[in-house]
Amino acid sequence: MLLTTSLLFWLVQAALGSYRHAPSQQPLTNEPLPIDVTFMPIISPHEPAVLNISVTLYRPNLAANASLVELYLAFGNVPCQSYNDTNPITAVDDEGVLELLISDDEEYALRRWLTARPTSGTVNISMTALPRHIDITTPIGPRVDLREIDGGLQGSGFSVVPWPPSLPEVEHDLNFCWDLSHSPPNTNFASSLGEDLCHRFLDRAQAKQGMQSTVFAVGSTLHRYPPVEQSPELSQFGLFYFGNTSDIPFDVEKLGDYINALFTNLNAFFDVPNSRPYRVFLRPSLRGYGGAGFLSAFMLEYYPAMNVEQWELEWLLAHEVTHNWPLMDSSPGQPTQANNTWYNEGIATYYQTLLPHRFGHTTAEELVKQMNMNLQAYYTNPAIDLSNEEAAERMWTDPAAQRLPYHRGLVYFLRMGFFVRQASGGFVGIDDAVLELLGARRRGEPFGLDAWISLLGGALGDVAEAWREYNTMAVGGYLGLPPAALSYLGLRIVSVMQEKLDLGFDPSSLNGRIIAGVRTGSRAHDAGLRDGDVLVENKVMYWQVADDISRNMTLMFKRDGRDFELTYWPRSRETVPSLQVEEAGHTHAWSDL
Ligand SMILES: *[C@@H]1O[C@H](CO)[C@@H](O)[C@H](O)[C@H]1NC(C)=O
Ligand SMILES: *[C@@H]1O[C@H](CO)[C@@H](O)[C@H](O)[C@H]1NC(C)=O
Ligand SMILES: *[C@@H]1O[C@H](CO)[C@@H](O)[C@H](O)[C@H]1NC(C)=O
Ligand SMILES: *[C@@H]1O[C@H](CO)[C@@H](O)[C@H](O)[C@H]1NC(C)=O
Ligand SMILES: *[C@@H]1O[C@H](CO)[C@@H](O)[C@H](O)[C@H]1NC(C)=O
Ligand SMILES: *[C@@H]1O[C@H](CO)[C@@H](O)[C@H](O)[C@H]1NC(C)=O
Ligand SMILES: *[C@@H]1O[C@H](CO)[C@@H](O)[C@H](O)[C@H]1NC(C)=O
Ligand SMILES: [Zn+2]
Repeated sequence: MLLTTSLLFWLVQAALGSYRHAPSQQPLTNEPLPIDVTFMPIISPHEPAVLNISVTLYRPNLAANASLVELYLAFGNVPCQSYNDTNPITAVDDEGVLELLISDDEEYALRRWLTARPTSGTVNISMTALPRHIDITTPIGPRVDLREIDGGLQGSGFSVVPWPPSLPEVEHDLNFCWDLSHSPPNTNFASSLGEDLCHRFLDRAQAKQGMQSTVFAVGSTLHRYPPVEQSPELSQFGLFYFGNTSDIPFDVEKLGDYINALFTNLNAFFDVPNSRPYRVFLRPSLRGYGGAGFLSAFMLEYYPAMNVEQWELEWLLAHEVTHNWPLMDSSPGQPTQANNTWYNEGIATYYQTLLPHRFGHTTAEELVKQMNMNLQAYYTNPAIDLSNEEAAERMWTDPAAQRLPYHRGLVYFLRMGFFVRQASGGFVGIDDAVLELLGARRRGEPFGLDAWISLLGGALGDVAEAWREYNTMAVGGYLGLPPAALSYLGLRIVSVMQEKLDLGFDPSSLNGRIIAGVRTGSRAHDAGLRDGDVLVENKVMYWQVADDISRNMTLMFKRDGRDFELTYWPRSRETVPSLQVEEAGHTHAWSDL
């Protein structure tokens, strides 16, 4: 899962919303206005941890009824801090208390704090971010919310830090600091901005994005891998986790070494001139298991009682790390991101499968296994006929729709790789086009769908063909691969029939925890599942059974006061046309990746 472009998209939306407020703003100055943000965690043994935040705006010079700051009400299905009357934002300036009025903008799902009078001089804004109350029914969503973990706190700037409206030509320096005066002496802290107490964010045009797509963690049981003493270049890589590694159901150090090595390889592959440090944050959850990509960081949420195999975890993480580079921008005014999620998730799935093999982190057998898992995940997806737009609309309610762009995008890139190789006499795959799109992003040029099509069209020697291929993919349904599509890897594509993924009940009842829609004749029904059974615990994640056709689903239920566990193969009795790969019997070198 990727949040970085989503955040970019939301910021574009916010800017659109803000323009309408521009008249109440004083004339723009050319001088950059600094913004200071301080996080003061309040951690004590007797009270739940909270995060006091202060934001200082130097001379905003606002008229009455102007928007001082704003914050999204939610991101997807995850609420942001509401800072309402029970726990308000307060402000003072040179004239004393500055009263703020809340105004919600339904269209942009944005809450604004409006000035009751003109501001005078520097405005200091204070608030308290409260950890989200979660329980087993809390649906899995974008991992941006503030959580209390082990007496400490973990979260993302997106859901807690209100920010002045984005206005054209107004840029800010961001000074971010930790204030640990209300935390125990042994408190550790880190954020994706840095590991020092104060950090000046240098990319002025990106200050808002820098703050909002920050991941942070603080607490006395927060640890770093590699430890500081062994990490002279603190700047390059760090993995942060809470508690004792013996309580984490995988080998944290092995995972850290794997990501660190892969990160170094990928950085070189994607040709990064000045790489930013990369940081990984772990957090336990009551049921989630998955990742979220932020700016130069990702977060892995794990469920302590669920065993995920090391290779499976490495594979998931290879996906999240890959998100750091190849990206397609969303088209402005596009509410669902239908036109770029296929790219961002598909390209991450493509390189997550191919690059670890290229760099010697996975064997040929593992490559075949992972490719086959990905291919069947597309062809046996019950949502395969949804268009990209339909899948985007349903992504938070239907897990099949949420997984779709990952594997549809992969199949598309495998196809395009083959066609480009054919058009170029066998040597160039899609890498050049992907790297050029990345280059456009770095240069501040457009890097949306149109840019991609023109790059791919150039590689194919036919822009109209590039559009046709895109449209064929975007509309949904079976998307084929020529038998020789992967012959450059020594693999042959073969046609097979495979069982469609079928939980046997309505997947949206996974969130409500009361099972509904059990279908007679399904394997779930045969195993004994009935409507009204209360889901107590997922032992296996949806994505695990979706990605691995051999995998059983195991769920724990309660019925009539009695707990029981059901294991069944979550596949339909009908088979659908699918593609798999097998070794062609001879191998080629990786000359063209
Ligand atoms: C203040 O701004 C809000 C939101 O833009 C608007 O609805 C309201 O009418 C304004 N009030 C005054 C007194 O201008
Ligand atoms: C304020 O928000 C909290 C949740 O963030 C909610 O429980 C409470 O009811 C809200 N209070 C008001 C007055 O809206
Ligand atoms: C705002 O905060 C700064 C430092 O945090 C402080 O020096 C200043 O006096 C404050 N201003 C007001 C008006 O409270
Ligand atoms: C934290 O913020 C709240 C208001 O949101 C304030 O009442 C409290 O005094 C602050 N705590 C500290 C230690 O500054
Ligand atoms: C972690 O747990 C292990 C086994 O339970 C224990 O021996 C070790 O002392 C713990 N380490 C820390 C730092 O608490
Ligand atoms: C997505 O792209 C297609 C072009 O294939 C276009 O027709 C459609 O309007 C776009 N959708 C959105 C929501 O921008
Ligand atoms: C899957 O579950 C079924 C039904 O419980 C069982 O017969 C089968 O052996 C299981 N398969 C695996 C691979 O665990
Ligand atoms: Zn992803």
